[in-house]
Amino acid sequence: MAEGGDFDVCLQSYKYVYRPDLLKGKVAFITGGGSGIGFRIAEVFMRHQCTVVIASRNLEKVKAAAAKLERATGGKCLALPMDVRKADQILKAVDDALSHFNRIDILVNNAAGNFLCPASKLSFNAFKTVMEIDAHGTFNCSKAVFEKYMKDHGGSIVNITATLHHRGVPLQTHAGSAKAAIDAMTRHLAVEWGQYGIRINCVAPGPIGETEGMRRLGGSQLKKTTGSYDRLIRDIPAGRMGTKEDIANGAVYLVSPAGSFVTGTNLIVDGGHWLTQSSSAMQARL
Ligand code: COA
Ligand code: NAP
Repeated sequence: MAEGGDFDVCLQSYKYVYRPDLLKGKVAFITGGGSGIGFRIAEVFMRHQCTVVIASRNLEKVKAAAAKLERATGGKCLALPMDVRKADQILKAVDDALSHFNRIDILVNNAAGNFLCPASKLSFNAFKTVMEIDAHGTFNCSKAVFEKYMKDHGGSIVNITATLHHRGVPLQTHAGSAKAAIDAMTRHLAVEWGQYGIRINCVAPGPIGETEGMRRLGGSQLKKTTGSYDRLIRDIPAGRMGTKEDIANGAVYLVSPAGSFVTGTNLIVDGGHWLTQSSSAMQARL
């Protein structure tokens, strides 16, 4: 559970910006969908009548999340165990999803691992671990879903990246390198797989409140009462922190018919943060 309580609760109310049945009849497979941004993407997809599969290493966590999501939305959510670094587990999870629902129209590669660490102190294995979860994991899941379903039926893939590597912030060489690889992979796959009716895009979140990612990167100093929180907000042209719903609404656009001519692109959902971001707060911890 994340510091400060359970972040992964469904919305009390959801204000539709798109038609409520926009994703009716579709099935989405979301890696890391048991918590944070992935959980909210699952919820918002389900509120648009999409059936959802959520998969990550901790089966108890994804099962508990699926129960919450079904209660709140009245939709269907299947929880599966899977490590995105392990091809055999991915292939089995994709087979299980297909045997339950017969289709996977949407893949969201959201699973990731991160922590703050200067490059000089990163062990070889620490760098490799983050590359393997984020970059290899995105390729592994994309390839498995491509081979087993999308090659013959088309579909839409959304990769959750970040903006760390756009300017190169300190303490994030591992995560920034992995996300840069995903950005490049998105463009390569969009070019190669367009012929199969598959669109591949990224959503790059900025600082998103009530997430494990923000807790790890912002640290406890970023409690609302502190100066560092005020500095962060001053660095965001939109004047506020992002919400998980902001990211989910971006993902809905990309997978919906509204995004049908959009592929190989990166939708930055960060209130303009990367344009103005100061690296001094992170730098101070070097
Ligand atoms: N700082 C520096 N190195 C770290 C670290 C930290 N905070 N946390 C882990 N590492 C290193 C470990 O020491 C190890 O290297 P070593 O073998 O040379 O000692 C390596 O990273 C792998 O760690 P391990 O704990 O074995 O990996 P894991 O596969 O069990 O877990 C993590 C992966 C480390 C990314 C873990 O934090 C995780 O599971 N994160 C998922 C949730 C998350 O990060 N959410 C935010 C998403 S933005
Ligand atoms: P989170 O709640 O920790 O989500 C990460 C999820 O990935 C977890 O549910 C975790 O579940 C799963 N996961 C980790 N390693 C895995 C593995 N090897 N195999 C399968 N699943 C794995 O963090 P979050 O903040 O919501 O982050 C979600 C995404 O948004 C990430 O891609 C992150 O880089 C991106 N992002 C977040 C922010 C932010 O402000 N939060 C900003 C920019 C980008 P298990 O532990 O059960 O495996």
